[in-house]
Amino acid sequence: MLIEQDALRHQWYVVAESNDVAGAPVAVRLLGESLVLWRSADGAVVAAPDRCPHREAPLSGGTVDDGCIVCPYHGWRFGDAGRCVEVPSSGAGRPVPPTSHLTTVHVAERYGLVWVCLDEPQGTIPAMAADDDPAYRRINTGVDTWTVSATRMTDNFLDISHFPYVHIGTFGIQENQDVPKLDLGPLDDGYFGYEYEVDVRNEAGAVASGLDGDVITRRMTTSFHLPFTVRSTIHYETGLDHLILLCSTPIDDVTSYFTFVVWRNDDFSVPAEDIISFDRAIGAEDKAMLERIPGVLPLDQKATVSVQSDKPSVEWRRQFAAMLSLV
Ligand code: FES
Ligand code: FE
Repeated sequence: MLIEQDALRHQWYVVAESNDVAGAPVAVRLLGESLVLWRSADGAVVAAPDRCPHREAPLSGGTVDDGCIVCPYHGWRFGDAGRCVEVPSSGAGRPVPPTSHLTTVHVAERYGLVWVCLDEPQGTIPAMAADDDPAYRRINTGVDTWTVSATRMTDNFLDISHFPYVHIGTFGIQENQDVPKLDLGPLDDGYFGYEYEVDVRNEAGAVASGLDGDVITRRMTTSFHLPFTVRSTIHYETGLDHLILLCSTPIDDVTSYFTFVVWRNDDFSVPAEDIISFDRAIGAEDKAMLERIPGVLPLDQKATVSVQSDKPSVEWRRQFAAMLSLV
């Protein structure tokens, strides 16, 4: 199974939005493991296996009280860094067994998202310079679950030759099937990808593009950050930038969390939900296609046929396979 590859445990993944982790424990799954998230007294998110060390009850079924997660079975309380601070049956204030503490995992909050790494981090959280630029606003869109391998999602997000087929209901133009020669290379902020220009249908996307006209030209880059993050930048002739970070997280081999985050240097006048409804519709088109393709994308490049327009996803697959073999 792909998720058993040790290298994947050393990478960062989005498991929730920061807003999701408020007053109650949150159950999430990553690489086949069940985790619980909660906020400790200092407001930091804590992530730990969703298993009480006492009798293995899922801690996510409990409550959060004063920054401690309280097990629903016998009320053991775990505070900062997962330290067990109280075993009620032993009497308040009595010492707890030294083995009663939770083994927490690495967690960080960035871009309104909760990122988790199960083992010593070897990868990084992808950079997004616009997040520190006051000219840009950030729009979070919620976390969805797709019955798709994260490998197929990443492959798809790097691919533009499906636009005239899958995205015909949003921005795809049926006649525009030729994909120009794509030059791949390192881009800014550690991403690897390509730049290109594409004509898109504008009628459903006019709110997001801010432009009139049936067909408009987008100057774009599409690039990846291992293992499963894709950044898409759209530049319009008006100077408007629309940047999208597409995050796929392997729940298991064939199920994934998906979220995307948008940054825009617009005048902030159009409501966020109106801006992202077009991107949501595009994502729904990809999801509907990908959920019909079972299993993990074969990492053996010879197991599938690739052509010139697949160069970006072939290169991602090559680098991804190399990353897996490093640990
Ligand atoms: Fe959690 Fe007993 S199983 S306190
Ligand atoms: Fe797509």
